[in-house]
Amino acid sequence: MQMIKLYVLLTLIAETCMSLPKSYQARFVSWNSTGSVVDFRVRFLGRERRLNGSLVISEDLDSKRFTVSAESYSDVSGGGDYKLMPFSMPHQSVCQAAKNFWIYFRATLKYGVNTDIPFELKPCPIPNGNYYMKNASIETDDWPYIMPRGFFKGVATFKKDDIVVGTQEVVIFIEDRTP
Ligand SMILES: *[C@@H]1O[C@H](CO)[C@@H](O)[C@H](O)[C@H]1NC(C)=O
Ligand SMILES: *[C@@H]1O[C@H](CO)[C@@H](O)[C@H](O)[C@H]1NC(C)=O
Ligand SMILES: *[C@@H]1O[C@H](CO)[C@@H](O)[C@H](O)[C@H]1NC(C)=O
Repeated sequence: MQMIKLYVLLTLIAETCMSLPKSYQARFVSWNSTGSVVDFRVRFLGRERRLNGSLVISEDLDSKRFTVSAESYSDVSGGGDYKLMPFSMPHQSVCQAAKNFWIYFRATLKYGVNTDIPFELKPCPIPNGNYYMKNASIETDDWPYIMPRGFFKGVATFKKDDIVVGTQEVVIFIEDRTP
């Protein structure tokens, strides 16, 4: 009983901390989408480089055939020397990944507000469709407290029946938050 109470308390503290403002802010630099099954077609609007465009999913992504993994890299100096970071996503079904990792993106792409991408609803299979993303700036609310400054790149590799069908390569720029 005590253990459960302690656990609940710690979880509450952790969740409260997670939502505190971060010391950094981030904006999009580039988004390189290759392959066909999961295709982000985006452009960036304004000086804040807000994300706009669509996500085209051409097949229902069931939990057996469609998998994804991801790694991240940091380039603090901007010289193009990207170093592997400990933030990664082990190879798993796209359904499972959406369940486990959407938390990092849900403040940026808010279902029913600036997107109709349904990951928030944890569907499985994830239905094929042409989803919109409108004018989204990066919200770091659910991100780690400490992030390296400079260029940060996420690379996600999608597979169908264990064969690579596409990659998503997203570069963002992280800097100290301006008041
Ligand atoms: C886009 O990503 C693919 C796959 O990782 C890579 O081969 C290609 O060089 C990238 N293109 C650009 C413009 O970065
Ligand atoms: C932004 O994306 C929406 C949804 O995909 C699209 O209708 C709109 O034309 C886009 N706006 C710009 C300026 O690209
Ligand atoms: C996009 O968002 C910015 C900042 O939140 C806002 O100033 C701008 O009016 C929005 N543009 C559109 C087309 O909604």
